[in-house]
Amino acid sequence: MARSSHDHAGLRHLSLPLPVQAALIHLLAWGVVLGLAAFSQQFHVVVAWRWLLVAQGAIAGSLSFVLGLPGWWLAINLAFFPMIGLGQQLDLRPEWYLLALCLLLLTQFGALRSRVPLYLSSHRAKTELAHLLPHTQGLRLLDIGSGTGGLLAQLAQARPDLRLAGVESAPLLWLVSRLRLGKRADIRFGSLWRHDLSRYDVVYAFLSPEPMARLWDKVRREMKPGSLFISNSFAVPGVAPDAVIDLNDLNRGRLLLWRLS
Ligand SMILES: C[S@@+](CC[C@H](N)C(=O)[O-])C[C@H]1O[C@@H](n2cnc3c(N)ncnc32)[C@H](O)[C@@H]1O
Repeated sequence: MARSSHDHAGLRHLSLPLPVQAALIHLLAWGVVLGLAAFSQQFHVVVAWRWLLVAQGAIAGSLSFVLGLPGWWLAINLAFFPMIGLGQQLDLRPEWYLLALCLLLLTQFGALRSRVPLYLSSHRAKTELAHLLPHTQGLRLLDIGSGTGGLLAQLAQARPDLRLAGVESAPLLWLVSRLRLGKRADIRFGSLWRHDLSRYDVVYAFLSPEPMARLWDKVRREMKPGSLFISNSFAVPGVAPDAVIDLNDLNRGRLLLWRLS
């Protein structure tokens, strides 16, 4: 079975959630930055606070790279503190922060409970998926947690032979994907846990480690023999996939495939 960099990357050995890893990295970077600032003051050099924020980002980004965090966390850690500095420079009106908070809540609020935030399948993942799916006219594919509908939109274009469906529990994301896809996919609003999987030949999931064990129970209960369950990046604990495809994308993602028996 193919192995990817996910299996041996840095801090992953400690099994800490990625946000905790990011917080530890920033604490360490902040310590280094404070040390540098104190050191420079000894020589009567005062470094402007915005350069300290840039240094914080650069150190946090480098640590993320060395410790093997996925590419998108590397980008977040690199940009987080410099963006705070930029925000202060821009002197934005408070309403913009309120609007950003509302958008965040409308798209991510459910993640507090489900532990599945919104992030999108990479272009590579979509292309690979379109390529690997069997060419059976009318093959039914469901994206559970279909987000903004990007995966389904690309599949609709690349593989018009597929019958596409999605289920999404965040109202704003559901609306966006519904408007985006129109009649090209059947997008339902609601929880994947209440959605029957038995109608589909392929179920695609890009969720998080949290629901995978429970999801596998549902997949085994509902999906028919011969159908295909595909998880982007997240393994089912204790169940080896039948095939693994390394995507070599920014997320260092991989597609894990299980053929139901
Ligand atoms: C990581 S995103 C994946 C988006 C899309 N499938 C893609 O690959 O680009 C996961 C999505 O699952 C949704 N989600 C989380 N829990 C859910 C649930 N119980 N039922 C339906 N959708 C859920 C989230 O709102 C989010 O949009």
